[in-house]
Amino acid sequence: MTSLPRAQVAENPDSLLADPIAWFLAEHHRHRQFCDLMQRASIATGFEPDLIAWLLKFVVEDLSLHVLDEEQDLFPLLRARAEPEDSIDALLGRLTGEHEKDLLRAAAVRRHLETCLRLQVPISGNNVRRRSLQAFATQERSHLALENAAVLPIARLRLSERDLANLSRRLAARRDITRRPAGRSTDAKAVTR
Ligand SMILES: [Fe+2]
Ligand SMILES: [Fe+2]
Repeated sequence: MTSLPRAQVAENPDSLLADPIAWFLAEHHRHRQFCDLMQRASIATGFEPDLIAWLLKFVVEDLSLHVLDEEQDLFPLLRARAEPEDSIDALLGRLTGEHEKDLLRAAAVRRHLETCLRLQVPISGNNVRRRSLQAFATQERSHLALENAAVLPIARLRLSERDLANLSRRLAARRDITRRPAGRSTDAKAVTR
């Protein structure tokens, strides 16, 4: 392997939490990079333990956190603030259904990655494992595109400064970030409320 995935998929800085919509956009960008690495891992002919271990960590930690961010915080806020013309219930209903399927698929992907690490074999050596990773990446890309195109613009339009500040605080709390997210002065003030 020429470069470690950690260097290719940088963590978002905590300060970005001061603008939670920008945070979600940046997270989605990271998830797209994760999908690219899943595709790469699925066809690699050699055993790449660092890459597989990084993918496993992302599936177990980052994906789960992200679904909680949306299902417990962003989506309920949007349901409360959206206007009828936003058709938010149909949109979020579809995305919630995809989250449920994603978590089931992610459990399968996790087992495949763990198996490859244990046996020290590449993913491409087994068609079931290879197809599972590729299907997951394809579905995830489509999900991210819909959220970027439809959900985040509505959030930007409908959420108040107070909503954004509360969202920022909840995202930070989920990550156990005790220091206040720094950033826009109005938000920095708001998160202390
Ligand atoms: Fe999502
Ligand atoms: Fe998302």
